[in-house]
Amino acid sequence: MAGHGEAQPMRATAGGPLRGVAEIPGDKSVSHRSLILGALAVGETSITGLLEGQDVLDTGKAMAAFGATVERDGPGAWRVQGVGVGGFREPEDVIDCGNSGTGVRLIMGAMATSDLTATFTGDASLRSRPMGRVTDPLALFGAEARGRRGGRLPITLTGAAAPVPVRYATPVASAQVKSAVLLAGLNAPGETVVIEKEATRDHTERMLAGFGAEVRVEATAEGRAVTLVGQPELRPQRIAVPRDPSSAAFPVAAALLAPGSEVRLPGIGLNPTRAGLYDTLVEMGAAIEFADRREEGGEPVADLVVRHGALRGIEVPPERAASMIDEYPILAALAATAEGRTVMRGVKELRVKESDRIDAMARGLEACGVEVEEGPDWFVVHGRGADGVPGGATVASRLDHRIAMAFLCLGLASRRPVTVDDAGPIVTSFPSFVPLMRALGADLSG
Ligand code: S3P
Repeated sequence: MAGHGEAQPMRATAGGPLRGVAEIPGDKSVSHRSLILGALAVGETSITGLLEGQDVLDTGKAMAAFGATVERDGPGAWRVQGVGVGGFREPEDVIDCGNSGTGVRLIMGAMATSDLTATFTGDASLRSRPMGRVTDPLALFGAEARGRRGGRLPITLTGAAAPVPVRYATPVASAQVKSAVLLAGLNAPGETVVIEKEATRDHTERMLAGFGAEVRVEATAEGRAVTLVGQPELRPQRIAVPRDPSSAAFPVAAALLAPGSEVRLPGIGLNPTRAGLYDTLVEMGAAIEFADRREEGGEPVADLVVRHGALRGIEVPPERAASMIDEYPILAALAATAEGRTVMRGVKELRVKESDRIDAMARGLEACGVEVEEGPDWFVVHGRGADGVPGGATVASRLDHRIAMAFLCLGLASRRPVTVDDAGPIVTSFPSFVPLMRALGADLSG
């Protein structure tokens, strides 16, 4: 579990260019879903390119606790013997999802329509995050949740013994909520429908269809409606996990920032529901080539080639927020170096991520000498442009991997080094971040 050891401070200092090839690990969202859907299929699912970050490892342990057999054959190569939809057994102990909102919310969904009880917890970050957004719709299936005040973990969830299908319009743009409802719908008879006003990442729908479930996606007056026919027999799959565009964003940013850089990132997933940052960077004037666009493991991918260049601030269209929701920390760091202001609106969800990311970025950027403005659901960064980012601060990473990585990237382009108080959380999503960045030429010490 992340965040339980001693703090690991790390300092980033500007230096030479970043050059070389960055092998980005597997996509976190697809990795969680591979283990969960593998556990719900009948027979053996094999996975290559699985992200071996702590978040995903915690989900693997949870699937074993629910009765699946989860085995590692080698780096990124895993096998899951599934127990079938409705085949989960009651875990003997508390399920600890560590730092992972995706893990806990999807797993609660997956068990909510089975006649068993499980208790979920996580680290201090996860225990502070809202869970009512999933336990409310799961109650419609007949599941019962008891947790701490405000719907916080630890939560004990008793699944519905006689589940009914659900039609649910998500009140927030959240792929985790959508996915929890769809996974619960697997063991309910009839059709479960989730309607979302704005499209969020669609890995669950795509993968459910790949596992043989009947899934329909339609545009309706209320929004994008995903319909799942319950109680399918899921067929085991061979899954090649695409490389994570959200992790790639950090070396991409570092290459944009460090003069003289040129970095190649092969096979990065560019599912349109995930790729909003890359559109934004191009609008900011970034030199990024998208070479050899192709499909791998059912997802669009390309080889990215990134070269250093000055950026200009822009207004990020709010309707793009869902497709780059995890990328605002690194965008804010890039915006700090750009010429002019960068305006981010419609980003209320950033307040309930691994940390309050608007507050974490605002306080950290201010400490580095960058002017910001913020509101409940918006954030403005006044880029320093040719004046440069002063840096010279120690920034709190707040148990948030993306805050830690964003400030380390900023330090590579600041006049004085930037230190993060704890780089430990990086292992949740990108365990090879530090060696990978050093191999490209980044000066990270800690
Ligand atoms: C994820 C959905 C997003 C994202 C998270 C991964 C997923 O969260 O921030 O890192 O895999 O479904 P929300 O559903 O809360 O927006």
